[in-house]
Amino acid sequence: MVKSLSLKALATTTIVTALLFSAQPDASAQARANKPQWWKHAVFYEIYPRSFKDSNGDGVGDLNGITSELDYLAKLGVDAVWITPFYPSPQVDFGYDVSDYENVDPQFGTLADFDRLVKEAHTRHIRVVIDFVLNHTSDQHPFFKESRASKTNPKRDWYVWRDPKPDGARPNNWSSSFGPVAWTLDEKTGQFYYHYFYPQQPELNWRNPAVERRMFETVRFWLRRGADGFRLDAVNYLFEDPSLRDNPVLPELRPGTTTGEHLQEKKYNRDLPEVQDVMVRLRAFNDSVNPESVLIGEAYVPKWEELMRYYGPSDNGVHLPFNFFLIMEPARSKLDANVFRSVIAASENALKGRWTTYVLSNHDNPRHYDRYGDGRNNDAIAKLTATMLLTLRGSPFLYYGEEIGMVTTEPKTIDEVRDPVGRRYWPANKGRDGERTPMQWDATANAGFTRGTPWLPVPPSARERNVAAEARDPNSVLNFYRQLIALRRRSPALLDGDYASIGTDPHVYAYRRRARGQTVIVVLNMSAERRAFMPPRPASGPQAYAIALATQDVRMRPFVAGELSLAPFEAVVLETRNR
Ligand code: GLC
Repeated sequence: MVKSLSLKALATTTIVTALLFSAQPDASAQARANKPQWWKHAVFYEIYPRSFKDSNGDGVGDLNGITSELDYLAKLGVDAVWITPFYPSPQVDFGYDVSDYENVDPQFGTLADFDRLVKEAHTRHIRVVIDFVLNHTSDQHPFFKESRASKTNPKRDWYVWRDPKPDGARPNNWSSSFGPVAWTLDEKTGQFYYHYFYPQQPELNWRNPAVERRMFETVRFWLRRGADGFRLDAVNYLFEDPSLRDNPVLPELRPGTTTGEHLQEKKYNRDLPEVQDVMVRLRAFNDSVNPESVLIGEAYVPKWEELMRYYGPSDNGVHLPFNFFLIMEPARSKLDANVFRSVIAASENALKGRWTTYVLSNHDNPRHYDRYGDGRNNDAIAKLTATMLLTLRGSPFLYYGEEIGMVTTEPKTIDEVRDPVGRRYWPANKGRDGERTPMQWDATANAGFTRGTPWLPVPPSARERNVAAEARDPNSVLNFYRQLIALRRRSPALLDGDYASIGTDPHVYAYRRRARGQTVIVVLNMSAERRAFMPPRPASGPQAYAIALATQDVRMRPFVAGELSLAPFEAVVLETRNR
């Protein structure tokens, strides 16, 4: 049982707690000493710039808006931001269709605004990671305009062009991620070009060394401007089978369709081995310009073996291939201790000590607040999942708004939909607008996001659920994230410790993180029932654990020496000193 409180007990336990804490090595000093691998200790925060903060009243968030909220981010405790594309773009895919890699879209600001953002972020010890959309450009990029001008244009081979089949059909059966097909006929030159995403996102031909050379220069451009690394967009699609073989067709239809559009196994256009060679060369190029710059690869792959290849044959590839296994089934939508235990076990087995990322929400997936929420205990569940995200062995990536428990707010009618894929497959797929709504800063009109008309409606939840209100509430999700990040920062076990799962309770997912000097036990009750948990006996030192953090009434329970009783959906972080 958890100790009940008397004043004497409180005094004793406070001393125990103080002793346990004061013995910890200074984790942030270690982090500073380990600068080239700063990303191993970092909490990342993804910003979708359109939706974060609008500084000029045009209804679209911008770089100056981000700069104006750096103090908020510093107080939250994040170490790095990842900003999704802000480059000049026709905005068909909201910035993932780049028409100039080395500038800022006027609706997001200027290069001078970027420079100021970097300077101000660095002043606050926040690193700036940017998106690098290297698989495709916009069809409005000068490269593509040249390429489509004629079959003999020197840039023709910068993209993937093919003749129609003799009967005029497209070169093969490949489907597009955004549907339906991945080939568009260019009437003028009579050839098809390949686009895995929208037709306005033609794929670069990475078999052409000139493409590689030019795209690598973009890396140099932004590193010289002070960027601290890149999130590499859709890297697993860089290469296509040279003979363009048809992909195997699966029995399932694409959601929202009734005939014709079958899903495919992307055997010939995803994760070709050549991708890894580029990653190794990109890493070498990156390191030659700035060895502290981090490369984070976006690759949704079904198996760990495939993801492991991104680390490179001798760990000379991408530093952090994004680990999406918490966003993918079976962990994606069900709060289940057995599922999380086994998904993390698979990660740990595959990684063999390598570093990874953990992420629950991003701009392409419904927010996890409602994916895991049961409708009654959503805040408790949000704190529980945050505890897991920030205490696993890896670098956590937060998505703007998750720290206040923002909900996915989907468009109500097809006319409201902004993401083209949502219009095409409405209502089975409503697109990604739901997870991209404006950040909820306060209870004023438009949630303090803009003084103009927001590009996407502000969710009704903004009236109660916003930064200003949650900052005032000591029990808010926001204040919990702040405490959790602060705990992580000062904990050697959470920053660097090993990982071992504890027990097999189908309702309680528990694990130990252990480093020299400190052991942390994380206990997550993933059920709506009260559950008991017996922590393992500490190997040495005081035979008690301090409760470093709990999602419910931690102030009433400073330490635990025996069985721990957990409230429904409660998360508890225990810590003790070791040798
Ligand atoms: C990535 C991005 C997504 C974008 C796609 C095409 O998956 O995260 O938002 O639509 O690439 O660039």
